[in-house]
Amino acid sequence: MTKVIVFGSINIDLVTKTPRLPVAGETLQGYEFFTTAGGKGANQAVAAARLGALTYIVGRLGDDDFGRQLLSGLKAAGVYTDGILVDAAANSGVAMITVDEAGENNIIIVAGANGRVSQQDVERLAVLLPGASALLLQFEIPIPVVLSAAQTAHKFGVMVILDPAPAVSDIPPELYPLIDIITPNEIEASQLVGFPVDGQEAAHQASIELLKRGVGTVIVKLGDRGVFCATGRETFFIPAFSVQAVDTVAAGDAFNGGLAVALTEGRPLREAVVWGAAAGALAATKSGAQPALPDREALEAFLKERGGYTTG
Ligand code: RIB
Repeated sequence: MTKVIVFGSINIDLVTKTPRLPVAGETLQGYEFFTTAGGKGANQAVAAARLGALTYIVGRLGDDDFGRQLLSGLKAAGVYTDGILVDAAANSGVAMITVDEAGENNIIIVAGANGRVSQQDVERLAVLLPGASALLLQFEIPIPVVLSAAQTAHKFGVMVILDPAPAVSDIPPELYPLIDIITPNEIEASQLVGFPVDGQEAAHQASIELLKRGVGTVIVKLGDRGVFCATGRETFFIPAFSVQAVDTVAAGDAFNGGLAVALTEGRPLREAVVWGAAAGALAATKSGAQPALPDREALEAFLKERGGYTTG
């Protein structure tokens, strides 16, 4: 088993299903409401654990019922949670999510304890890094702390995979050279490079810019069209697996979990991207964030059925 560490957010997701997404000022009648475990960091940790990595998470929860529920959910998914600090000074992170009938969503997050992740947490991370193969980062915790975590991972020679989500336009320039793999979607890529990214050609242009800033590999998630990938040596496109999407929440997190597990098992980049795409596609076929994340058996069966790479 390879060791994967996630340093990031843990949220309770409050999910409403509506026929379509509301416009500003509009009140809509929803038809379903549920709460579920989420947060980009926690989702990526659960994804990696279900796909077979020895997975640790470092982050913060509030001392509240949501926090206790989220902690026991992570443990039940097989994630090592000793790196979580229960912070009595804040509520657990919350995400208000609206999902429409086409499976599209919008999300408002209230960071709570995630917003208080600090250098103190990087110190707990440093204890876990020896022997790890990958560190997964996102932007739902303060960016200066993400930078510090990437610097620490770099010192230990641990691969850094950054999901620059939610989208931000100004990240510290010194972060780029510390990123082995960056995985923006089109909105996130547009924010980073400052021009619209819509489709493969624009993803290629964005990748050139991000490689120039020092990133090792750029993987642009193009939703239900596929994934564009650029390293300094090659570019390639992997088409999306066609599935009946019911809810795309956490599909991107499933992608990063699948990518990380495959890479840390020594699979080539192309195959790892296919694993990510398959994990993301499977996650989109189910409702909710963590409940939708596939396990290894489901992923292997899907790859076999769809003619993707076998797992041997
Ligand atoms: O990536 C999906 C996640 O984004 C949700 O689970 C929600 O918590 C938000 O953080």
